[in-house]
Amino acid sequence: MKEKLEQILKNGLQETENAKDLKTLDDVRVKYLGKTGELTQILRGMKDIAPEDRKEVGIVANKVREALETALSEKLARLEEEKLQADMEKEKVDITEPGKGTKRGALHPLSRFNNKFIEICVEMGFTVIQGPEIETDYYNFEALNVPKNHPARDMQDSFYITDNILMRTQTSNMQIRAMEKMKPPFKVVCPGRVYRNDSDSSHSPIFNQFEALVIDENVGLKDLMMMIKEILKRLFGDNIKIRVRPSYFPFTEPSIEIDATCQMCGGKGCNLCKGTGFSEFFAAGVVNPKVLEMAGIDSKKYSGFAFGPGIDRSVMVTNKIPNIKYLFRNDMRFLKQMR
Ligand code: DAH
Repeated sequence: MKEKLEQILKNGLQETENAKDLKTLDDVRVKYLGKTGELTQILRGMKDIAPEDRKEVGIVANKVREALETALSEKLARLEEEKLQADMEKEKVDITEPGKGTKRGALHPLSRFNNKFIEICVEMGFTVIQGPEIETDYYNFEALNVPKNHPARDMQDSFYITDNILMRTQTSNMQIRAMEKMKPPFKVVCPGRVYRNDSDSSHSPIFNQFEALVIDENVGLKDLMMMIKEILKRLFGDNIKIRVRPSYFPFTEPSIEIDATCQMCGGKGCNLCKGTGFSEFFAAGVVNPKVLEMAGIDSKKYSGFAFGPGIDRSVMVTNKIPNIKYLFRNDMRFLKQMR
């Protein structure tokens, strides 16, 4: 029996030493010290041993158990420590790794242009107003001297909601709303979205205009020209050149269109400006007295001028954006480039 116990001790210690992981070590424990383990069985069978041998065998068996338990618990501690070290190695935080950084938002190029334009107008004493995008036929057309069946309506392919209500095709509706509400003299500017049934690489069904209106005594074309020149200089720099062409709008008389140095080629001539070096920027004119009267302003005492640049084209050109749709798609890849 003593030899058997010594064999168990020898094997047990050897196997404990050889155990490479916690699972194997536990198998060793179960093999010798578990409920049906080799040593447990001997300890349980003590009663069958001859009484004269019992004490000695008992002492040896207990020593073997103690030795095995000690070896197992030491090995367990070592294996646990090794596992902890290995886990820590795996999960190590590399404090030298660069951070991911916070994503910073930025203003949309249209907003930036809008803000700049508003800032310039406010410096010149304009009041900023806003008004409805869903508008009646009266404010969008009739009060602007564009009666029903007037051919000028053809230029503005409209989205009608009912016979009498439409998505505004121009911010000029705000000229009438301002004249009805405000007492002259006044200067107002209205940035806003407008809608037309038109879509290609340089036209979107939604686009943005600015409407500026000045009503005062004795104001006219010369004041309009001075103001537009000043605004363009502040927007694009002192070297900007302008060119004026006669035009027609039912609500202004005379009506003009103003071109400015093409911002794509700097005036050298390119595809966009069709080699002219100029691109269209403002539609403008002296307010038609008929429009003043319809809005309740005495046209003998007061006169006025108005201008309405579309801003999307300028934003496209100054930012070299090939298709107007990019401005409205909210594509992060595009917006990131516009910071
Ligand atoms: N509202 C016109 C359009 O969208 C542009 C325009 C012309 C605005 C003359 C004006 C103006 O303020 O005076 O075609």
